[in-house]
Amino acid sequence: MSTHRIEVTVNGTSQVTEVDARQLLVFYLREDLHLTGTKVGCDTSSCGACTVLLNGEAVKSCTVLAAQADGREITTIEGIAAGGRLHPLQQAFREHHALQCGYCTPGMVMALLSLLREQPDATDQDVRRGLEGNLCRCTGYTAIVAAARSAAASGAAAAGPGNGGADR
Ligand code: FES
Ligand code: FES
Repeated sequence: MSTHRIEVTVNGTSQVTEVDARQLLVFYLREDLHLTGTKVGCDTSSCGACTVLLNGEAVKSCTVLAAQADGREITTIEGIAAGGRLHPLQQAFREHHALQCGYCTPGMVMALLSLLREQPDATDQDVRRGLEGNLCRCTGYTAIVAAARSAAASGAAAAGPGNGGADR
């Protein structure tokens, strides 16, 4: 079995780990680092439940090898709240009842974080297009889009780590 030594920064903390060359990033996060907020919904790159930020860009972590993340910065859902306060996007999901079982929510939030950083004035259509790779089996998308638009309108949706150092 071939292994690689990787050095990554996860939610602001440096991690040096020996990983199996074939280990997927999602399993490195969940099993090695116990960051189980990142979910596995399909394992076939369809559902988006495993979405995290890799150097600020949303990626499906079931499509990336842990070894490919070497030297990079990873942000997971555990890394976006600060000071005991939910991230504005998380707060908006709560206020707009944009989740039921919550399984898709971490991936939705991370995908939206990336989208709203690139497009702070995203329209409903932009948000829907941006979430094409994220599936929700129970809430439906209306409340999720409303939460995203509301957080965007507050101007704070893109705040937080993994965005090149912008202040919260
Ligand atoms: S688990 Fe990665 S896209 Fe579904
Ligand atoms: S809230 Fe249950 S899958 Fe989206």
